[in-house]
Amino acid sequence: MEILTVENYSITYDGVKNAVDRVSLRVEEGEIVSIVGESGSGKSTLLHGILGLLPRSAAAKGAVRVLGRALAEMKPAELRKLRGEEVAMIFQDTGRYMNPTSRIGAQFRQYLRCHGDYSNPECDAQALDLLRRVHLADAERVLRSYPFELSGGMRQRVGIAMAMALKPRLLLADEPTSALDVTVQAQIVRQMIDLREKYGTTIILVTHNMGVAAYMSDRVGVMRGGALVELGPTERVIHAPRDEYTRKLLGAVIELDDEKMAVVAV
Ligand SMILES: Nc1ncnc2c1ncn2[C@@H]1O[C@H](COP(=O)(O)OP(=O)(O)O)[C@@H](O)[C@H]1O
Ligand SMILES: [Mg+2]
Repeated sequence: MEILTVENYSITYDGVKNAVDRVSLRVEEGEIVSIVGESGSGKSTLLHGILGLLPRSAAAKGAVRVLGRALAEMKPAELRKLRGEEVAMIFQDTGRYMNPTSRIGAQFRQYLRCHGDYSNPECDAQALDLLRRVHLADAERVLRSYPFELSGGMRQRVGIAMAMALKPRLLLADEPTSALDVTVQAQIVRQMIDLREKYGTTIILVTHNMGVAAYMSDRVGVMRGGALVELGPTERVIHAPRDEYTRKLLGAVIELDDEKMAVVAV
């Protein structure tokens, strides 16, 4: 099954330059693909483009097909349905997108109810289960809390649990764990792998942590100046990178991340 196809896809902001530059990428069902690259290389812009979330100042060229459907031909309502039910996204600061005046439990209920015929106790049971899976201690208390009563890291984990709640076909994660400490990071990484194993979720993960990319992905892509300069099986990209830039990036990141890699790869 074709999950995502990106063909010769470019994105320009304010007509100025190619933030994404002729990217082509096909992702198969159940695959985990990591995208790495230095800050400003176009990773977030690419993910936003795939979800139809670009600002007005951006113009896209080329084709994107999600779950076999052309993005450009989707009506806003179809796109919203796709984003709510089949495709989930986790941002670096997902916690910030929560409703500040509503308790976490109420937000879960609202979210789950929109997508199924669940009673309140059923919603709460699901929410507790999901919160425990992202290793949030005292999940009952979290459900009764307002977002501001939780730390940034806890909110992020709640956001990740919500994104996983719908068992999406496709999960786009933009540096989901970079603000979390290393131990929590490793737990979240395992949850994402678990999601793929249990439900066949396809995952595209943007990360600057080469250890995480190496540990969890089938393929790794490297972006530079908007272009996908390298894309291949993880082993090959890490041990025999074809692109000079990838080699530099690997050298720098692996040296810095030795300790993190050890923790993540346990
Ligand atoms: N909303 C925006 N308006 C104008 N330029 C932007 C906007 N968002 C990102 N850019 C530019 O596009 C390029 C790619 O940015 P981004 O996709 O955020 O990279 P990354 O996620 O790899 O750090 C950068 O040069 C950035 O400055
Ligand atoms: Mg980014």
